[in-house]
Amino acid sequence: MRRIVLPRIGTVAAWRAEARRLASAGVPAEAVLWQVGDGARDLFEEGGGEDAGAGTAVRLSRTALASIETALCHRDPERFARAYALVLGLSRGELVWGDRADPAMNRVLAQEKAVRRDIHKMHAFVRFREIGDRDALRRTFAAWFEPEHLITEAAAPFFARRFGDMDWIIATPDLTARFTNRAVAFSVTDGATRPPPDASEELWRTYFAHIFNPARLMVSAMTSEMPRKYWKNLPEAELIPEMIRSAPARARTMQEAAATMPDTRAARLAARRVGPAGTSEGDMTLPGLKARLDACRRCPIGACATQAAAGEGPENARLMIVGEQPGDEEDLAGRPFLGPAGRVFDDCARAAGLDRSEAYITNAVKHFKFAPRGKKRLHQRPSPAEVEQCRWWLDLERALVRPRAILALGSTAALALTGDGRDLSHRRGQIERDRNGTPMILSWHPAFLLRAPEKSTRDAVREELIAHMRLAMNLAGAT
Ligand code: URA
Repeated sequence: MRRIVLPRIGTVAAWRAEARRLASAGVPAEAVLWQVGDGARDLFEEGGGEDAGAGTAVRLSRTALASIETALCHRDPERFARAYALVLGLSRGELVWGDRADPAMNRVLAQEKAVRRDIHKMHAFVRFREIGDRDALRRTFAAWFEPEHLITEAAAPFFARRFGDMDWIIATPDLTARFTNRAVAFSVTDGATRPPPDASEELWRTYFAHIFNPARLMVSAMTSEMPRKYWKNLPEAELIPEMIRSAPARARTMQEAAATMPDTRAARLAARRVGPAGTSEGDMTLPGLKARLDACRRCPIGACATQAAAGEGPENARLMIVGEQPGDEEDLAGRPFLGPAGRVFDDCARAAGLDRSEAYITNAVKHFKFAPRGKKRLHQRPSPAEVEQCRWWLDLERALVRPRAILALGSTAALALTGDGRDLSHRRGQIERDRNGTPMILSWHPAFLLRAPEKSTRDAVREELIAHMRLAMNLAGAT
């Protein structure tokens, strides 16, 4: 019998390497005892090779491998042996992936599902408390979470993508994930230390109480999405019973107060039209903008994006081009117009004879607003209040670049530049003026071209966009 002891960090990758090695050495499933070990004793093998038979080259589809590896995050101590037996059966063609009539396959698929659900819960219910200096460029947060399975490593990439602009620690009873300088490292959690409740716990409770909207409270949805077993990890959960009890009265109060709310909100928004802490327009330069933008939290979008996509182009550009907001690819690269809409933009610019590097290209909103759907991040249109918050940056860019003309792509850009967000059907191609009197042409957003189902519409939109680019270049004297 061979005893394989896998490390506690990188367990799945180590299992994969060992399974390949044992399979090619012809070691049958029943001749291996799998364990997870500690520290210095990690990844070692005991026992002889006397039971080796003919070798098997591991051949698995990507789907099968991904499912098996996800199932290996389950707490079931038999998971490694079962997965190894399955790998041998699949590679030898004795089993077909997905055949639930096979008890081992059925079990692995059920465990994969349980692990996926657990990862989803972790993504939804981790609550960070700020532990570092609030004014630091990269702020530091910590969270304690108790997952059902061993999912810390599998769940961490989501947090790295979503909270890429801050440093954070997520501690679980098994492993601790630590994200610093944009890299995640794991360590075995030291004892079962739970962060002590402190003042910032209080802050979390107050925060939750404020964002809690009683008019939308649905108890059944709340308990199915946020099962009671997770409540103990959520600082705000202490408030739930009282919130449920007082929700109807609070909803009534909200309705009665509704007529007076817009003014209060408008006043608050107006009061916030100063820069982020310690920032004034006077000490800003274009090269310094990116780091400041990354740290911007004037609205909630910034906290979810990876980084800001700052505008780019020469400081003395005659033409400024303003889009809506960065998309998925722009968020990852930190630059505007690179993804699918960026490729349409480049294609039209080429056709118009517009040299991208000579214009200053930016967006009305500098961070990517999205809704997570599985592995995808779906674009969400920024709200007028968010556009208004981000206008501080656009105004600053306009003041620094002082373009002769602006090309606004889409109605969000039009809203930010003119205060008028009406749709473009009667406005596009007309010369308008931005808030400072700079001449401005409104045109289609390139993403509209991607969405239009009819080829004839796409062709017409493309032609108009090219014509509007030419018009904007003429206005700017950039040709
Ligand atoms: N859409 C935009 O408006 N801007 C980008 O940078 C990318 C897509």
